[in-house]
Amino acid sequence: QRERTLAMIKPDGLSGNYTERIKEVILESGFDIVKEAVVHLDAERASLFYAEHYERSFFDSLVKYMTSGPVLAMVLERPDAVLHWRALIGPTDARKAKISHPNSIRAMCGLDSEKNCVHGSDSPQSAAREISFFFGDVRSDTVEHDE
Ligand code: CMP
Repeated sequence: QRERTLAMIKPDGLSGNYTERIKEVILESGFDIVKEAVVHLDAERASLFYAEHYERSFFDSLVKYMTSGPVLAMVLERPDAVLHWRALIGPTDARKAKISHPNSIRAMCGLDSEKNCVHGSDSPQSAAREISFFFGDVRSDTVEHDE
């Protein structure tokens, strides 16, 4: 049955003008974009989003990256959306993606294991949390499409 996942185009993806191409890939892959919002995260919000990585050595750098400019958060819907979006974006390390998954989104617009251009929820549970993180409150900058 249909399922939702949280997709995010990170600051490097937005500033690199990859948004239109990524949206084409999303729609060609059978997803509906049911909500979207451009959000500039501050350090507190970015830390909350990535709270599970708090102990990791890359955490501070990750927060700096994720607050360096606006992101585009999207709710994508299709059957098995979580798995399909993860497959489409490819491995976390964009350098590896360019070799092993050359058609993936991270191969197209990512740089390395940090600046990997896009995010995808890793499970239906994460998707629920991440969707409510961005869309749980009614935001003036949220575009709601027909559902
Ligand atoms: P994402 O899929 O959004 O989930 C966690 C993020 O942390 C990941 O993408 C990268 O942006 C970042 N990340 C993961 N591993 C590393 C790493 N080894 N070094 C730096 N950043 C990383």
